[in-house]
Amino acid sequence: MSSRTVIRGGLVITASDEIHADVLIEDGRVAALAASGTPAAAAWTAERVVDATGKYVIPGGVDVHTHMELPFGGTFASDTFETGTRAAAWGGTTTIVDFAVQSVGRSLREGLDAWHGKAEGNCAIDYGFHMIVSDVNQDTLKEMDLLVEEGVTSFKQFMAYPGVFYSDDGQILRAMQRSAENGGLIMMHAENGIAIDVLVEQALARGETDPRYHGEVRKALLEAEATHRAIKLAQVAGAPLYVVHVSAAEAVAELARARDEGRHVFGETCPQYLFLSTDNLAEPGFEGSKYVCSTPLRPKEHQAKLWQGLRTDDLQVVSTDHCPFCFVGQKELGRGDFSKIPNGLPGVENRMDLLHQAVVDGHISRRRWIEIACAAPARMFGMYPKKGTLAPGSDADVVIYDPHAEQTVSAETHHMNVDYSAYEGRRLTGRVETVLSRGEPVIDQRKFAGRAGHGLYTPRSTCQYLQ
Ligand code: URP
Ligand code: ZN
Ligand code: ZN
Ligand code: ZN
Repeated sequence: MSSRTVIRGGLVITASDEIHADVLIEDGRVAALAASGTPAAAAWTAERVVDATGKYVIPGGVDVHTHMELPFGGTFASDTFETGTRAAAWGGTTTIVDFAVQSVGRSLREGLDAWHGKAEGNCAIDYGFHMIVSDVNQDTLKEMDLLVEEGVTSFKQFMAYPGVFYSDDGQILRAMQRSAENGGLIMMHAENGIAIDVLVEQALARGETDPRYHGEVRKALLEAEATHRAIKLAQVAGAPLYVVHVSAAEAVAELARARDEGRHVFGETCPQYLFLSTDNLAEPGFEGSKYVCSTPLRPKEHQAKLWQGLRTDDLQVVSTDHCPFCFVGQKELGRGDFSKIPNGLPGVENRMDLLHQAVVDGHISRRRWIEIACAAPARMFGMYPKKGTLAPGSDADVVIYDPHAEQTVSAETHHMNVDYSAYEGRRLTGRVETVLSRGEPVIDQRKFAGRAGHGLYTPRSTCQYLQ
């Protein structure tokens, strides 16, 4: 039996259009759109009618950078796939792409199987995987081909974290050469980790142990240098490149230059770099530990270049790098030594709202909001137009968004499994009202209506910016 829903009277916003339209959903997919009030739209009947008058009707958010349950710094990111995907839905995100981890000495397959085991049956929304490659060798290179064929089409490498996830330039070049052949996309954590480790050691020897020194040793120049090197290695390999969590103005400049040369180089930034700064890292009483992530928060002056990059398309995607660690018992592991603070910030629930605030504040247009948060990430990682837009045939991942509602962000009211908010007390205009995932309510007028296990694994095609 077919199930039908009609969403009536809202302003439908996609990356390309804004139209007052009704949306017909049939069997979990968008079946049709028609201008509100026209005979075509009026003729639709459905079991469920959602009134979206005065609201935005937007594609569900696509967050292509999350780390549920990531083992890091002797502990685990505090959101499970169950709690993290539920929180994502509360924030208007209906798809995540998380990072499966290859441990050194183990195969990619083992890592991927382990992450499937964590996610399967637990997610409230759909999910896919990238693969973190920590050990490039002949076997892993062959495995990359197989993973691309089965829908894991992107691979993260680290120029940072020596002894953990780190790859040297030779390993990076080999993986890039392989991706040039198999269609995979290398995602780069671009920071010169070898140089940073020297600066960490020297800072600690000087007694500089507070969280703010995390930002000082992980210099913008060392992000820019690594970004430049990654771009050149990709050029040598003839491979495209996606640089994750770009925070430094100097790194944006490297990306912009490469793009102006016509290279297939892409960049992602995150809300924490757009809305927070080294001022937060310098908060007294170990509060700064709440803002320790890598790449680090930068001085406020960098933010304007990130917004500019998002407007000019030198940056294409805003994801969260959601990697929460509680203040109590987790961030506290680094009291007396900033290098022992687990790296990462919570944010999977906040991204769509913070970016809507950027629309209100005039940094980006409404359509650019949907592009950087929904459409571009879906295209970048091979999920478009199933995800990231509202078109006939798309999955009915739909958010009814109230652009006038006021909210105050707080750990007291958020749904992420973490004891603080990086945006505590921030007043935002706009709020998610209802969320559908493949036509089924996950959030229904500010009440959770989803279930663990509704979310399905989503295999992906290769990067659609290259097709
Ligand atoms: O600080 C961060 N970003 N933690 C997560 C791991 C990573 O490098 O993305
Ligand atoms: Zn990273
Ligand atoms: Zn440019
Ligand atoms: Zn990350």
